[in-house]
Amino acid sequence: MDMHPDIQPLAFLLGTWNGKGRGEYPTIDPFEYDEEISINHVGKPFLFYHQRTWRRPGGAPLHTEAGYFRMGDAGVELVLAQPSGIAEVHVGSLDGSTIDLKSTGVLLTPTAKQIVTVGRRLETTGNGLRYRLDMEAVGQPFQFHLEAELHRTA
Ligand code: HEM
Repeated sequence: MDMHPDIQPLAFLLGTWNGKGRGEYPTIDPFEYDEEISINHVGKPFLFYHQRTWRRPGGAPLHTEAGYFRMGDAGVELVLAQPSGIAEVHVGSLDGSTIDLKSTGVLLTPTAKQIVTVGRRLETTGNGLRYRLDMEAVGQPFQFHLEAELHRTA
């Protein structure tokens, strides 16, 4: 199926990506994880994004999230939902195959952790994908939480 022309600039994201990452934050112990990201399209002007992670070592399910990428006049748009009661809306820039996003809004359910701002930077080189996530949350200033490196496996 042909990709919708509006999201052609994001075609480099398509596929299934597997790899591993690590995380830290002042309030928690550092950790490592395995990750799978799948990004696909159905011919409409959006990409469907789905991510799952598992603790290293051990393989217990960890964070997961799902959302949609689109292209707008102001750049790349992302809406994202997490099972922990967090909804992120981002707008950001596209430079070649690097996406730099900053949340324009984060909504929380009553039981969610207090997230204020999230920054997500995604960079691909051929079949490699790396990302970095920073956040202002739980009373801490904006800073590093996650980084990971994945490879396209399908
Ligand atoms: C690859 C994705 C992610 C993984 C593997 C991950 C993993 C973890 C782990 C293992 C912790 C330690 C405490 C716990 O087990 O709950 C943690 C803490 C935390 N995570 Fe993440 N996380 C991910 C993404 C996110 C995202 C997208 C957000 C928010 C936008 C977030 C917000 C937080 C916060 C605020 C804490 C600190 C909680 C506290 O101090 O009470 N995480 N994360």
